[in-house]
Amino acid sequence: MLAALAACADYWDARRTRSDQHGGMITLPEAPRLIPPTTTVRTSYLVGEQADCLLRGTDPKWLAPASENFDDFVDVRCGVKQRWAVPSTLFWYVSGEYYLGTLVIKHELNGELTDEQGGHIGYHVVAPWRRQGHATRMLRAGLDQCRALGLDRALLCCDPDNEASRRSILRNGGRPDGHRHGEDRFWIDLA
Ligand SMILES: CC(C)(COP(=O)(O)OP(=O)(O)OC[C@H]1O[C@@H](n2cnc3c(N)ncnc32)[C@H](O)[C@@H]1OP(=O)(O)O)[C@@H](O)C(=O)NCCC(=O)NCCS
Repeated sequence: MLAALAACADYWDARRTRSDQHGGMITLPEAPRLIPPTTTVRTSYLVGEQADCLLRGTDPKWLAPASENFDDFVDVRCGVKQRWAVPSTLFWYVSGEYYLGTLVIKHELNGELTDEQGGHIGYHVVAPWRRQGHATRMLRAGLDQCRALGLDRALLCCDPDNEASRRSILRNGGRPDGHRHGEDRFWIDLA
């Protein structure tokens, strides 16, 4: 509870600082939170993910079924699901009507996730919301979820040239643990 309040205070302090610096940024209605996927952010999810695909040059085709039936799209993403052959939970990072990004937690690691790639947590912030500290705070909130699952440490992996992700991990206490299969590895203690 105290950690959550501190995170909120940090968020609003950072928000004020960045607004002062850049001006004109959208003011969010409340400190963003990690929540299960929800139909309430339909428009900002679709627009945000489409902008992200266009920026990254990836195919946005997967958004068509989502735009046609968002209820079903959300429904299949809620709850604990088997992905990468382990149980996992998907969260969206949301403030009011605004969807900012996604974070997925694998509840455990199998050989492939430990030794090859992936680690416990995957995340992205959609393009319109980048470089405003959201990934750093979203990851912090994700680590709280890992604690709630009973994990005592989390493995994070990222491409060596992904400076933004590397910094987000380090800001959250990541301890470098070498480089395997093209990815830098970090452990974060949760105890
Ligand atoms: C990586 C990603 C999540 C970062 O999101 P973000 O909300 O922009 O990150 P933050 O604003 O919290 O920034 C974190 C740090 O990286 C820095 N940073 C952000 N974007 C950067 C960039 N393009 N180049 C260099 N540094 C960058 C920030 O200045 C900040 O540094 P600081 O802690 O020293 O102040 C986002 O770029 C993304 O979704 N990328 C695609 C998916 C991805 O790479 N996911 C991670 C997989 S491991």
